[in-house]
Amino acid sequence: MTGHQIRQLFLEYFQQHGHRIVKSSSLVPANDPTLLFTNAGMNQFKDVFLGREKRDYVRAASSQKCVRAGGKHNDLENVGKTARHHTFFEMLGNFSFGDYFKSEAIPLAWNLITREYGIDQDRLWITIYQDDEEAFAIWNQKVGISSERVFRLGEKDNFWAMGDTGPCGPCSEIHFDQGPAASESGHVECQFPCDCGRYVEIWNLVFMQFDCDSSGKLTPLPRPSIDTGMGLERITAVLQGKTSNFETDLPSGIMVSIPLSIFPCVSLPTTPERLLF
Ligand code: ALA
Repeated sequence: MTGHQIRQLFLEYFQQHGHRIVKSSSLVPANDPTLLFTNAGMNQFKDVFLGREKRDYVRAASSQKCVRAGGKHNDLENVGKTARHHTFFEMLGNFSFGDYFKSEAIPLAWNLITREYGIDQDRLWITIYQDDEEAFAIWNQKVGISSERVFRLGEKDNFWAMGDTGPCGPCSEIHFDQGPAASESGHVECQFPCDCGRYVEIWNLVFMQFDCDSSGKLTPLPRPSIDTGMGLERITAVLQGKTSNFETDLPSGIMVSIPLSIFPCVSLPTTPERLLF
């Protein structure tokens, strides 16, 4: 599948499951002084999660243009050093505004990646927030994932917040094992959740439950909701059998059309991705 087909399949899958397909919002968020650039698919739905705005739909899906080069979600230090970080990328996401919650969101995601995209489930690993017994039970009993494949991590990894304030909640991530050749630390054999690059996070399922204020106080949202994010460039690399996002068909048009001569001070063999992204 091309990157375009992967994006289409995602949106059509969620449309078939009752979601409204919503266009990507602007990279500069409207009416939100807490953000310089859009950093996630949920940004345009912030007030819907908070119960301040109503839409004529309670399920949505989008492919959102994002920039993560500053603020809370800042990938800049990793850009050019790993094969999976970008300043600009597209985030595929499905959203529930007080409609379905964990017990539907988890099987929906699993079905898409294992049946529709056909990813080998033996190469997938799951993380959950440390004390989220409900998510564990859904993965283990409803989806059938063995307990050895479900890792409990703390707030840093498995509690997602849009910024210092705003909607937030525990999350569960799906990671893909690219095999030892993808290790950026030269590991021949390492175990999940090693962060050497072998295991790539492909999808984050956030169980939106709180509004965080500037003092850090968490107030429950009017209705528990769902916010997910899957990097289009990462899932495309997985499905195209590449260990670098930069080797997929998504940026290939840019790569071939920018002459290396515009970087006269950089000598080869610096890899193109270090120059461009
Ligand atoms: N909003 C969540 C994220 O960006 C899905 O990871």
